[in-house]
Amino acid sequence: MDERSALVLVVDDEPPNVELLSAVLGRAGYRRVQSASSALEALEAVRAVRPDIILLDLRMPGIDGVGFLELLEHELGDDEFVPVLVLTADSSAECRRRALASGATDFVTKPFEVNELLLRVRNLVRTRLLHEQVRARAGELEDRLAAQLAERLEEKEAFIEALVAAQEAERERIATEIHDDTIQMLTAISIRMELLRDQLPKGDAVGALDQIIKECTAATERLRTLLFDLRPPALGVGGLAAALQDQLEFTADGSLEWTIDDFLVGELPRPVELALFRIGQEAIANARDHAGASQLFVELREEPGWVEITVRDNGSGFDPDSVMGKPRPGHLGLVAMHERAEALGGRLTITSRAGEGTTVTARVPLRHRRAPWRPVLAAS
Ligand SMILES: Nc1ncnc2c1ncn2[C@@H]1O[C@H](COP(=O)(O)OP(=O)(O)OP(=O)(O)O)[C@@H](O)[C@H]1O
Ligand SMILES: [Mg+2]
Repeated sequence: MDERSALVLVVDDEPPNVELLSAVLGRAGYRRVQSASSALEALEAVRAVRPDIILLDLRMPGIDGVGFLELLEHELGDDEFVPVLVLTADSSAECRRRALASGATDFVTKPFEVNELLLRVRNLVRTRLLHEQVRARAGELEDRLAAQLAERLEEKEAFIEALVAAQEAERERIATEIHDDTIQMLTAISIRMELLRDQLPKGDAVGALDQIIKECTAATERLRTLLFDLRPPALGVGGLAAALQDQLEFTADGSLEWTIDDFLVGELPRPVELALFRIGQEAIANARDHAGASQLFVELREEPGWVEITVRDNGSGFDPDSVMGKPRPGHLGLVAMHERAEALGGRLTITSRAGEGTTVTARVPLRHRRAPWRPVLAAS
């Protein structure tokens, strides 16, 4: 932009002064000169449209030039720069110090020399225009960076969705195999052995067969448990709380009392729902297997941008740092819980001490976007 198309605001309560300055500026080619006769009027003008330079008289009735400078400082943003050239008949050091301390950029003493005034105006306007260019460029860079960041985030989300989808599809495949093939075969074997037993004369062979039939039934039961873990029936139908409730009913024997508080307000994106379910499932299994707890408390909570699951038991407690620092081979429940929370940009915290129970909390960010993927969950 050419500096002569800059917007100049003249602030002076004396009409002859305003006229003189406007004429001088007009002759020098400045096409946009506005004036204000008081600090408040000037402030209104600044609010309506930002001037590129302000020529300010210090002595005005009511709010004076220094008062205006203070108001202007409040009005302008931190990264905004509007130069103020003070015109004053008072050339004392004290007067200059006060005005500079309040944010004046430069001085001209009245009566002013026209060329000097115009040179100062030109330099200050150039500085302002450069400043605006830098600001616009910084804004562009910021926008570009934000767009790139959003793109990376989208890519990461898509990747996690695909990963979770692949994991769940694999679980589904294994579950189907166990349900339709292995369990059917074991059932058929049991029936055949029962028929065989009934045809045999009583004796050692019958006893041995009875034992094998029992083991077959126990193996089938274990496979049904595995099926339940692999394919939680309620997750696709009743949501997270219902699925966890099923898990608790399935897990707890008579000695474990449990409650679940569900404060979720809406449907969760599929990857978040699955991750929280798997974390909850593992925490519940750990409480059952290791804590010797008599009470288990599960809570689902939501805040703007976040969702959280807490599983708390009143059992033996343990030292999470030492367990996490050196996981035993094949014991990867805690590691998997951490990984699931972190994959979604969240965090898992475990608070536990020997004799004082354990609290597991997973907190993950919630962007309100439903994942397109949703597996078909058949009932087992
Ligand atoms: N709620 C809990 N109360 C007491 N100890 C716990 C609890 N949760 C975990 N632990 C301890 O931490 C260890 C590691 O737990 P983790 O879930 O990683 O493995 P695991 O349960 O032993 O095996 P996996 O989960 O792989 O079947 C457990 O063996 C147990 O000693
Ligand atoms: Mg475990």
